[in-house]
Amino acid sequence: MIQVQHLVKLFGNFRAVDDITFEVQKGEVLGFLGPNGAGKSTTMRMLTGFFPPSSGTAVINGYDILKDSLNARRQIGYLPENAPVYPDMTVEGYLKFIAEVRGFTGSELKKKFERAVEICSLEKVLPQTVDTLSKGYKQRVCFAQAILPDPPVLILDEPTDGLDPNQKFEVRRMISGMAENKCIILSTHILEEVDAVCTRAIIIANGKIVANGSPNELRKKSSLYEAVTLSLDNVGAEEAKSAFMSLANVANTEVLKEENGAIVIRVLPSGGNVIAPAVAEEIRRRNWRNTQFSVEEGRLDEVFRNVTRQ
Ligand SMILES: Nc1ncnc2c1ncn2[C@@H]1O[C@H](COP(=O)(O)OP(=O)(O)OP(=O)(O)O)[C@@H](O)[C@H]1O
Ligand SMILES: [Mg+2]
Repeated sequence: MIQVQHLVKLFGNFRAVDDITFEVQKGEVLGFLGPNGAGKSTTMRMLTGFFPPSSGTAVINGYDILKDSLNARRQIGYLPENAPVYPDMTVEGYLKFIAEVRGFTGSELKKKFERAVEICSLEKVLPQTVDTLSKGYKQRVCFAQAILPDPPVLILDEPTDGLDPNQKFEVRRMISGMAENKCIILSTHILEEVDAVCTRAIIIANGKIVANGSPNELRKKSSLYEAVTLSLDNVGAEEAKSAFMSLANVANTEVLKEENGAIVIRVLPSGGNVIAPAVAEEIRRRNWRNTQFSVEEGRLDEVFRNVTRQ
Protein backbone atom coordinates (compact mmCIF):
# COMPACT_ATOMS: atom_id res chain seq x y z
CA MET A 1 0.00 0.00 0.00
CA ILE A 2 2.99 2.28 0.48
CA GLN A 3 6.03 2.10 -1.76
CA VAL A 4 8.79 4.55 -0.93
CA GLN A 5 11.43 4.86 -3.63
CA HIS A 6 14.79 6.55 -3.06
CA LEU A 7 13.36 9.49 -1.11
CA VAL A 8 15.80 12.33 -0.49
CA LYS A 9 15.26 15.66 1.29
CA LEU A 10 17.90 18.37 1.22
CA PHE A 11 17.81 21.49 3.35
CA GLY A 12 20.54 23.52 1.67
CA ASN A 13 23.47 21.12 1.56
CA PHE A 14 22.21 19.06 4.50
CA ARG A 15 20.73 15.65 3.62
CA ALA A 16 17.96 15.27 6.23
CA VAL A 17 16.63 12.17 4.40
CA ASP A 18 19.22 10.32 2.36
CA ASP A 19 17.90 7.80 -0.16
CA ILE A 20 15.23 5.90 1.77
CA THR A 21 13.42 2.95 0.14
CA PHE A 22 10.88 0.64 1.79
CA GLU A 23 7.39 -0.85 1.40
CA VAL A 24 4.47 -1.28 3.75
CA GLN A 25 1.66 -3.81 3.16
CA LYS A 26 -1.96 -3.73 4.26
CA GLY A 27 -2.29 -4.96 7.84
CA GLU A 28 1.17 -3.83 8.82
CA VAL A 29 1.92 -1.36 11.60
CA LEU A 30 5.36 -0.02 10.84
CA GLY A 31 7.29 1.68 13.64
CA PHE A 32 9.71 4.44 12.70
CA LEU A 33 12.51 4.66 15.24
CA GLY A 34 15.60 6.80 15.38
CA PRO A 35 17.42 9.43 17.41
CA ASN A 36 16.28 13.07 17.46
CA GLY A 37 16.96 14.64 14.08
CA ALA A 38 17.23 11.28 12.27
CA GLY A 39 14.71 12.26 9.58
CA LYS A 40 11.51 10.51 10.74
CA SER A 41 9.22 13.54 10.65
CA THR A 42 10.81 14.79 7.41
CA THR A 43 10.06 11.44 5.73
CA MET A 44 6.46 11.56 6.98
CA ARG A 45 6.08 15.14 5.76
CA MET A 46 7.08 14.08 2.25
CA LEU A 47 4.72 11.08 2.24
CA THR A 48 1.82 13.27 3.34
CA GLY A 49 2.47 16.05 0.82
CA PHE A 50 3.45 18.66 3.41
CA PHE A 51 6.51 19.34 1.26
CA PRO A 52 7.90 17.67 -1.85
CA PRO A 53 10.97 15.43 -1.88
CA SER A 54 14.23 16.76 -3.36
CA SER A 55 14.34 13.52 -5.35
CA GLY A 56 12.70 10.10 -5.31
CA THR A 57 8.99 9.51 -4.82
CA ALA A 58 6.40 7.34 -3.10
CA VAL A 59 3.22 5.60 -4.19
CA ILE A 60 0.35 5.60 -1.68
CA ASN A 61 -2.39 3.04 -2.37
CA GLY A 62 -1.68 3.35 -6.09
CA TYR A 63 -1.24 7.15 -6.29
CA ASP A 64 2.14 8.76 -6.83
CA ILE A 65 2.77 11.63 -4.38
CA LEU A 66 4.29 13.76 -7.16
CA LYS A 67 2.10 12.92 -10.17
CA ASP A 68 -1.18 12.50 -8.31
CA SER A 69 -0.66 14.40 -5.09
CA LEU A 70 -4.30 15.14 -4.26
CA ASN A 71 -5.43 11.54 -4.68
CA ALA A 72 -2.39 10.33 -2.72
CA ARG A 73 -3.33 12.67 0.15
CA ARG A 74 -6.95 11.46 0.06
CA GLN A 75 -5.67 8.01 1.08
CA ILE A 76 -3.99 9.35 4.21
CA GLY A 77 -4.91 10.36 7.73
CA TYR A 78 -1.99 12.32 9.19
CA LEU A 79 -1.17 13.15 12.77
CA PRO A 80 1.68 15.67 12.55
CA GLU A 81 4.28 16.18 15.27
CA ASN A 82 3.15 18.41 18.18
CA ALA A 83 -0.56 18.29 17.22
CA PRO A 84 -1.01 21.53 15.27
CA VAL A 85 -4.71 22.34 15.75
CA TYR A 86 -6.32 25.80 15.32
CA PRO A 87 -6.32 27.20 18.88
CA ASP A 88 -9.38 29.44 18.59
CA MET A 89 -11.76 26.76 17.26
CA THR A 90 -13.92 24.62 19.53
CA VAL A 91 -13.27 20.87 19.35
CA GLU A 92 -16.69 20.32 17.76
CA GLY A 93 -16.17 23.17 15.28
CA TYR A 94 -12.72 21.94 14.36
CA LEU A 95 -13.68 18.30 13.79
CA LYS A 96 -16.74 19.27 11.73
CA PHE A 97 -14.52 21.61 9.72
CA ILE A 98 -12.10 18.72 9.08
CA ALA A 99 -15.03 16.51 8.01
CA GLU A 100 -16.11 19.18 5.50
CA VAL A 101 -12.58 19.64 4.17
CA ARG A 102 -12.46 15.89 3.70
CA GLY A 103 -15.55 16.17 1.52
CA PHE A 104 -18.31 14.87 3.79
CA THR A 105 -21.75 16.51 4.04
CA GLY A 106 -25.10 15.91 5.75
CA SER A 107 -25.68 12.63 7.56
CA GLU A 108 -22.34 11.18 6.40
CA LEU A 109 -20.52 14.12 8.00
CA LYS A 110 -22.46 13.61 11.22
CA LYS A 111 -21.64 9.89 11.26
CA LYS A 112 -17.92 10.43 10.68
CA PHE A 113 -17.80 13.18 13.32
CA GLU A 114 -19.61 11.05 15.92
CA ARG A 115 -17.41 8.04 15.26
CA ALA A 116 -14.19 10.04 15.73
CA VAL A 117 -15.52 11.66 18.91
CA GLU A 118 -16.49 8.29 20.33
CA ILE A 119 -13.24 6.50 19.46
CA CYS A 120 -11.18 9.28 21.03
CA SER A 121 -13.53 9.89 24.02
CA LEU A 122 -13.89 13.61 23.33
CA GLU A 123 -17.57 14.06 24.32
CA LYS A 124 -16.90 16.19 27.38
CA VAL A 125 -14.55 18.68 25.66
CA LEU A 126 -16.60 19.28 22.48
CA PRO A 127 -17.62 22.88 23.39
CA GLN A 128 -14.14 23.85 24.65
CA THR A 129 -11.76 25.89 22.48
CA VAL A 130 -8.54 24.08 21.58
CA ASP A 131 -6.29 26.59 23.38
CA THR A 132 -7.95 25.70 26.71
CA LEU A 133 -7.32 21.95 26.35
CA SER A 134 -4.64 20.06 28.24
CA LYS A 135 -1.72 18.77 26.16
CA GLY A 136 -3.02 15.19 26.10
CA TYR A 137 -6.52 16.24 25.02
CA LYS A 138 -5.05 18.39 22.25
CA GLN A 139 -3.14 15.33 21.06
CA ARG A 140 -6.37 13.31 21.11
CA VAL A 141 -8.22 15.95 19.07
CA CYS A 142 -5.46 15.80 16.49
CA PHE A 143 -5.62 12.00 16.49
CA ALA A 144 -9.42 12.23 15.97
CA GLN A 145 -8.78 14.50 12.97
CA ALA A 146 -6.43 11.88 11.46
CA ILE A 147 -8.83 8.95 11.75
CA LEU A 148 -12.03 10.90 10.99
CA PRO A 149 -12.22 10.11 7.25
CA ASP A 150 -11.42 6.43 8.02
CA PRO A 151 -8.63 6.45 5.43
CA PRO A 152 -6.76 3.33 4.26
CA VAL A 153 -3.39 4.77 5.31
CA LEU A 154 -2.51 6.36 8.66
CA ILE A 155 0.72 8.27 9.22
CA LEU A 156 1.13 9.10 12.89
CA ASP A 157 4.09 11.15 14.13
CA GLU A 158 4.59 10.23 17.80
CA PRO A 159 0.90 9.47 18.44
CA THR A 160 1.30 8.79 22.16
CA ASP A 161 3.52 11.80 22.91
CA GLY A 162 2.22 13.64 25.97
CA LEU A 163 -0.48 11.12 26.84
CA ASP A 164 -0.95 9.68 30.31
CA PRO A 165 -0.36 5.92 30.77
CA ASN A 166 -4.08 5.11 30.42
CA GLN A 167 -4.38 7.09 27.22
CA LYS A 168 -1.17 5.60 25.83
CA PHE A 169 -2.72 2.19 26.38
CA GLU A 170 -5.98 3.32 24.73
CA VAL A 171 -4.26 4.79 21.68
CA ARG A 172 -2.18 1.64 21.20
CA ARG A 173 -5.36 -0.44 21.49
CA MET A 174 -7.07 1.78 18.89
CA ILE A 175 -4.14 1.46 16.52
CA SER A 176 -4.04 -2.33 16.86
CA GLY A 177 -7.82 -2.47 16.41
CA MET A 178 -7.68 -0.51 13.16
CA ALA A 179 -4.58 -2.22 11.78
CA GLU A 180 -6.17 -5.15 10.01
CA ASN A 181 -7.69 -3.16 7.17
CA LYS A 182 -5.18 -0.35 7.03
CA CYS A 183 -1.57 0.38 6.55
CA ILE A 184 -0.13 2.37 9.46
CA ILE A 185 3.21 4.10 9.94
CA LEU A 186 3.96 5.58 13.34
CA SER A 187 7.06 7.11 14.83
CA THR A 188 7.96 6.67 18.47
CA HIS A 189 10.77 6.93 21.00
CA ILE A 190 9.10 4.39 23.28
CA LEU A 191 10.60 0.99 22.57
CA GLU A 192 7.92 -0.90 24.51
CA GLU A 193 5.45 0.64 22.05
CA VAL A 194 7.21 -1.20 19.25
CA ASP A 195 6.50 -4.50 20.99
CA ALA A 196 2.96 -3.46 21.88
CA VAL A 197 1.73 -2.41 18.42
CA CYS A 198 4.28 -2.70 15.62
CA THR A 199 4.50 -5.69 13.31
CA ARG A 200 7.75 -4.29 11.92
CA ALA A 201 10.18 -1.52 12.72
CA ILE A 202 12.57 0.58 10.68
CA ILE A 203 15.42 2.32 12.47
CA ILE A 204 16.64 5.53 10.84
CA ALA A 205 19.89 7.35 11.65
CA ASN A 206 21.31 10.35 9.82
CA GLY A 207 18.62 10.09 7.16
CA LYS A 208 19.39 6.45 6.30
CA ILE A 209 17.71 3.13 7.14
CA VAL A 210 20.05 1.19 9.44
CA ALA A 211 17.71 -1.67 10.44
CA ASN A 212 14.41 -3.10 9.14
CA GLY A 213 12.63 -6.11 10.64
CA SER A 214 10.05 -7.44 13.07
CA PRO A 215 10.68 -6.62 16.75
CA ASN A 216 11.90 -10.20 17.25
CA GLU A 217 14.22 -10.06 14.26
CA LEU A 218 15.71 -6.81 15.56
CA ARG A 219 16.15 -8.25 19.04
CA LYS A 220 18.25 -11.04 17.55
CA LYS A 221 20.88 -8.43 16.64
CA SER A 222 21.40 -7.81 20.36
CA SER A 223 24.69 -9.11 21.80
CA LEU A 224 22.61 -10.41 24.72
CA TYR A 225 20.41 -12.56 22.47
CA GLU A 226 20.55 -16.20 23.75
CA ALA A 227 22.90 -15.21 26.61
CA VAL A 228 22.39 -17.24 29.78
CA THR A 229 22.32 -15.59 33.20
CA LEU A 230 22.66 -18.00 36.12
CA SER A 231 23.63 -18.19 39.77
CA LEU A 232 25.82 -20.81 41.46
CA ASP A 233 26.55 -21.14 45.17
CA ASN A 234 29.25 -23.79 45.51
CA VAL A 235 31.90 -22.68 43.05
CA GLY A 236 34.26 -19.71 42.67
CA ALA A 237 33.97 -17.15 39.89
CA GLU A 238 37.25 -18.00 38.17
CA GLU A 239 36.58 -21.74 38.04
CA ALA A 240 33.06 -21.18 36.65
CA LYS A 241 34.30 -18.68 34.07
CA SER A 242 36.98 -20.96 32.68
CA ALA A 243 34.59 -23.94 32.54
CA PHE A 244 31.99 -21.99 30.53
CA MET A 245 34.62 -20.38 28.30
CA SER A 246 35.76 -23.83 27.19
CA LEU A 247 32.29 -24.66 25.79
CA ALA A 248 31.62 -24.40 22.04
CA ASN A 249 29.97 -21.15 20.79
CA VAL A 250 30.69 -19.22 24.00
CA ALA A 251 32.16 -15.79 23.28
CA ASN A 252 32.47 -14.34 26.77
CA THR A 253 31.47 -14.54 30.43
CA GLU A 254 30.72 -11.72 32.85
CA VAL A 255 30.47 -12.04 36.62
CA LEU A 256 27.53 -9.82 37.56
CA LYS A 257 27.63 -10.42 41.33
CA GLU A 258 29.88 -12.18 43.86
CA GLU A 259 28.60 -12.39 47.46
CA ASN A 260 28.96 -14.84 50.40
CA GLY A 261 30.40 -17.56 48.19
CA ALA A 262 27.60 -17.26 45.60
CA ILE A 263 28.00 -15.86 42.11
CA VAL A 264 25.72 -14.55 39.37
CA ILE A 265 27.34 -15.02 35.99
CA ARG A 266 26.31 -14.24 32.42
CA VAL A 267 27.49 -16.45 29.58
CA LEU A 268 27.41 -14.77 26.16
CA PRO A 269 27.21 -16.76 22.91
CA SER A 270 29.07 -16.05 19.71
CA GLY A 271 26.88 -15.11 16.73
CA GLY A 272 23.53 -15.59 18.50
CA ASN A 273 24.08 -19.36 18.90
CA VAL A 274 21.94 -21.36 21.34
CA ILE A 275 24.13 -22.26 24.32
CA ALA A 276 21.63 -22.81 27.15
CA PRO A 277 21.53 -26.66 26.90
CA ALA A 278 25.33 -26.92 26.89
CA VAL A 279 25.60 -24.54 29.86
CA ALA A 280 23.00 -26.55 31.79
CA GLU A 281 24.80 -29.82 31.00
CA GLU A 282 28.11 -28.38 32.23
CA ILE A 283 26.51 -27.39 35.56
CA ARG A 284 25.08 -30.89 35.99
CA ARG A 285 28.35 -32.58 35.03
CA ARG A 286 30.29 -30.62 37.64
CA ASN A 287 27.62 -31.01 40.34
CA TRP A 288 27.36 -27.27 40.84
CA ARG A 289 24.36 -25.96 42.75
CA ASN A 290 22.27 -23.74 40.47
CA THR A 291 19.55 -21.50 41.93
CA GLN A 292 18.60 -19.31 38.97
CA PHE A 293 18.84 -19.81 35.20
CA SER A 294 17.41 -17.54 32.50
CA VAL A 295 17.91 -17.11 28.76
CA GLU A 296 17.96 -13.54 27.37
CA GLU A 297 15.65 -12.78 24.43
CA GLY A 298 17.69 -9.72 23.41
CA ARG A 299 16.99 -6.07 24.07
CA LEU A 300 15.68 -3.51 21.60
CA ASP A 301 17.29 -0.62 23.49
CA GLU A 302 20.72 -2.20 23.10
CA VAL A 303 20.14 -2.85 19.38
CA PHE A 304 18.90 0.72 18.96
CA ARG A 305 22.06 2.10 20.58
CA ASN A 306 24.36 -0.12 18.56
CA VAL A 307 22.88 0.68 15.15
CA THR A 308 22.37 4.40 15.71
CA ARG A 309 25.72 5.29 17.31
CA GLN A 310 27.95 4.08 14.49
N1 LIG B 1 12.64 23.10 7.34
C1 LIG B 1 13.86 22.69 7.71
N2 LIG B 1 14.96 23.43 7.43
C2 LIG B 1 16.20 23.01 7.79
N3 LIG B 1 16.45 21.86 8.45
C3 LIG B 1 15.39 21.09 8.75
C4 LIG B 1 14.05 21.45 8.42
N4 LIG B 1 13.22 20.49 8.85
C5 LIG B 1 14.00 19.55 9.46
N5 LIG B 1 15.30 19.91 9.39
C6 LIG B 1 16.43 19.12 9.91
O1 LIG B 1 16.34 17.82 9.36
C7 LIG B 1 16.79 16.85 10.33
C8 LIG B 1 15.70 15.80 10.50
O2 LIG B 1 14.63 16.36 11.22
P1 LIG B 1 13.32 15.54 11.60
O3 LIG B 1 12.35 16.49 12.18
O4 LIG B 1 12.89 14.75 10.43
O5 LIG B 1 13.89 14.55 12.72
P2 LIG B 1 13.10 13.44 13.56
O6 LIG B 1 13.73 12.13 13.23
O7 LIG B 1 11.65 13.58 13.37
O8 LIG B 1 13.55 13.83 15.05
P3 LIG B 1 12.70 13.87 16.44
O9 LIG B 1 12.86 12.51 17.02
O10 LIG B 1 13.42 14.88 17.25
O11 LIG B 1 11.28 14.23 16.13
C9 LIG B 1 17.12 17.64 11.58
O12 LIG B 1 18.51 17.87 11.61
C10 LIG B 1 16.37 18.95 11.40
O13 LIG B 1 16.99 20.00 12.08
MG1 LIG C 1 10.11 14.11 14.58
